[in-house]
Amino acid sequence: MKNRFNRLTSKEWLPFQKSWFRYDADERLYLDNLRFFTKAEPTHEKVLYYGDQFEAFKSIAETQEISTTVSFDSEDEFQFIVIDIRSEIAACQTLESYYEIRTKIIDFAIQAFNRLTHRRFLTVYIQNQTIANQYYPFAWDLAWHLASIYSLKDEKIACKPIDQGSAMHHPEQHLFYVLHFRKDENSSGVYQLQTNTLCYTHDSKVPERSQVNIPGWFILKPAPRKKNEILHPAKYPEELVSMFLDNFTLENQNILDPMSGTGSTQVAALKKGRNAFGTELSPFFAKIAQQRCQDLVAPNQPDLFSLPSKQQHKIINKDARLINKDDFPSIDYVITSPPYWDMLNMKGAENQAKRVEKGLQTNYSDDQEDMGNIADYDAFLEDLTDVYFNIYDLMPTNAVMTIVVKNIKKKGKNYPFAWDLADRLCKKMVLLPEVFWCQDDINLAPYGYGNTFVSNTFHQYCLNFVKL
Ligand SMILES: C[S@@+](CC[C@H](N)C(=O)[O-])C[C@H]1O[C@@H](n2cnc3c(N)ncnc32)[C@H](O)[C@@H]1O
Repeated sequence: MKNRFNRLTSKEWLPFQKSWFRYDADERLYLDNLRFFTKAEPTHEKVLYYGDQFEAFKSIAETQEISTTVSFDSEDEFQFIVIDIRSEIAACQTLESYYEIRTKIIDFAIQAFNRLTHRRFLTVYIQNQTIANQYYPFAWDLAWHLASIYSLKDEKIACKPIDQGSAMHHPEQHLFYVLHFRKDENSSGVYQLQTNTLCYTHDSKVPERSQVNIPGWFILKPAPRKKNEILHPAKYPEELVSMFLDNFTLENQNILDPMSGTGSTQVAALKKGRNAFGTELSPFFAKIAQQRCQDLVAPNQPDLFSLPSKQQHKIINKDARLINKDDFPSIDYVITSPPYWDMLNMKGAENQAKRVEKGLQTNYSDDQEDMGNIADYDAFLEDLTDVYFNIYDLMPTNAVMTIVVKNIKKKGKNYPFAWDLADRLCKKMVLLPEVFWCQDDINLAPYGYGNTFVSNTFHQYCLNFVKL
């Protein structure tokens, strides 16, 4: 197939499409972005750069011509825009200083809009950050604002090397965001004020035991799924749950997952000596989950892992929206993953083809109450928020909730599901640093080859909230 976008071969195109990458130095980052988003020889494409690393950025360029804001005086048209505000954000000491940077970037992006070639990209390097004990998702906030001018297309997570033992209290220092916007038929070029509320302040301090002391990103090599676990289309590994249980809970505490699936949360909780509770809408999956717990507590095969029987478990076949105080005792920690909107109903959704081939179920159910069957995005978000606010009432102060989600691309449009959900939940709970489960065991697909950038989303957000 002819490559009209850049001059990369499909073999060179593919690795760039993984939605997370190991960051080592800016040189590599700049080079990879320039190679992907501009055409090299024989054309001389023009790049507009905003940031404090102009000389370094310029020295990386091959045939591309690099300019700064100065070029606004001329009639130049640019084929790529790069905004690097990592050090400006790192120097922010107050929320007001972030707002100043945001205003500056919005102005710059509005001016640059008319100078960017149609269907070309604007890329931003930015991180979320803690200021005075409070965590601010600056990257998400800026993305919402810029998305009113350009089309928000994609994001990549730059994963920095993690020095075990140091900076463990600041998982946000282990990564930054690379946000990709495009000027296209869906972008207005006009800024509209955004109403998201994430950047708000609270007075309470997050206690030590509710803080995230997990690396900002991690890769898991989970044990292969057993026969009954494969029946579920979207299970997370018990290893993930164990890691979070170690961070946020103590033995004998009560753990809840309102959407239990095959019971990964409960199995991991029981194995760690915690009590395991949950609901699951599908009677089929609820039964598998209950059986897996039962097999742990009272194994009927001698080789199965056996537990002291004092650990409680209870999984109810029930709609999570109807959970009430009589269902469970007080809950010390929640870890869960919802349906990713109605993505499993989309034909050709990631990994669906293989399941069809094997005769496996591709969605959770056709039940109307299944939240994976709600077609309207806002209605879906609203229902999901209700589920978590309902559970909030079962949690004592300082208890944490972890939600595993990802941002969604559907029919060419980007829905930042993780950020939108966090925005809603922050009305009651306090956002803690997110950490990423980076998947390294899935084959890349050459989406958009030769036409535009579409990543393979291989990073899942583990969003953390505390009830203060
Ligand atoms: C992403 S899966 C959870 C998988 C689970 N963490 C595991 O590892 O097996 C989401 C689950 O939510 C369930 N679900 C969907 N709507 C629900 C509702 N209204 N109440 C309870 N569970 C629901 C689905 O049946 C599905 O099993």
